[in-house]
Amino acid sequence: MNFLSNWEGVKSVPKNYVFPPEKRPCVAVKKTIPVIDFATNDRALLFQRILDVTQEFGFFQVINHGVSKKLIEETVKTLKEFNSMSPEDKKRECSKDPDYCKVYPGSQNSANEQTHFWRDSMSFNCHPLEKYIHFWPDKPPEFREVVGEYCVAMRKFVLELLDVISEGLKLGRGYLGDEMSSNPTMLVHYYPPCPDPSLTLGLRQHCDGSLITILFQDVNGLQILKDGEWIAADPIDDALLINFGYVLEVISNGKLKAAEHRAMTNMNVSRQSLIYFVCPENDVTIEPAKCLINETNPLRYRTIKFEDFRGKYYSVLANKEEIMKYMSLNKT
Ligand code: OGA
Ligand code: NI
Repeated sequence: MNFLSNWEGVKSVPKNYVFPPEKRPCVAVKKTIPVIDFATNDRALLFQRILDVTQEFGFFQVINHGVSKKLIEETVKTLKEFNSMSPEDKKRECSKDPDYCKVYPGSQNSANEQTHFWRDSMSFNCHPLEKYIHFWPDKPPEFREVVGEYCVAMRKFVLELLDVISEGLKLGRGYLGDEMSSNPTMLVHYYPPCPDPSLTLGLRQHCDGSLITILFQDVNGLQILKDGEWIAADPIDDALLINFGYVLEVISNGKLKAAEHRAMTNMNVSRQSLIYFVCPENDVTIEPAKCLINETNPLRYRTIKFEDFRGKYYSVLANKEEIMKYMSLNKT
């Protein structure tokens, strides 16, 4: 496999990585996504902050999330080591069951793409750990221990966050922390240095097909679409970046919205992002919570099995208009 992380001394962008001018990245406005301190007992206020910030930016950052700086650093380092291994090693380490752990250059659809994305990716199921950890790489030797600890810490934080959101939406505590979040996946994107970032994209414009997504990026690269304008969401220290996916948009009947974003490449440094992608199992039915529907807030989305939603999401390459047409009741 043609992993970009194994290219050596590439001096110019190969033709099949150069996007047509209208799809190339433009210069983005730099803005700090507001930071929310999770260390508070005032959960109602916390939810209100989350609502305010996401209504403006679609994303929010969290500090005091309970995942230690040391653990984040060790996880980033371990995954970088994985990405620096030979193509044969990477492939072998992820082939124990490719349904649950896979590694690939660019997107999963790259065989059908005219222009490829400037990254390598891996994804693996991560909860419950004992069900999946033996499919994970055991090279570098600390992979399972370190990444396993990271996934456990993520799970703990996510359940707390989902409780705040469930309560805030008045769905009752535990509503989102149960089957709606039962099948999280870890995605790791590695974006090698690129000779000309203005010609390439790391990851296409999309909203996530998750319930909610927790992202850690080691260096700049994430861009968020806000009111038709791309803004650069640069990382701050050990904050986690959070966004809602389509599943939460449906459950909340549109009160919490999925936000479009994409990833750029950098010229002199590699970039790595760790994404904890919270999803239900395939057979779970997603629909707007009944208690949120009333005369002033009429039903806006239809009932869909997560598996069918996922199928659609990938078949339209995350195209927002197509997905909205598929999910919403008003097919205007
Ligand atoms: C994603 C995503 C952004 C990044 O995987 O859904 O948006 O910075 N990743 O890698
Ligand atoms: Ni995303």
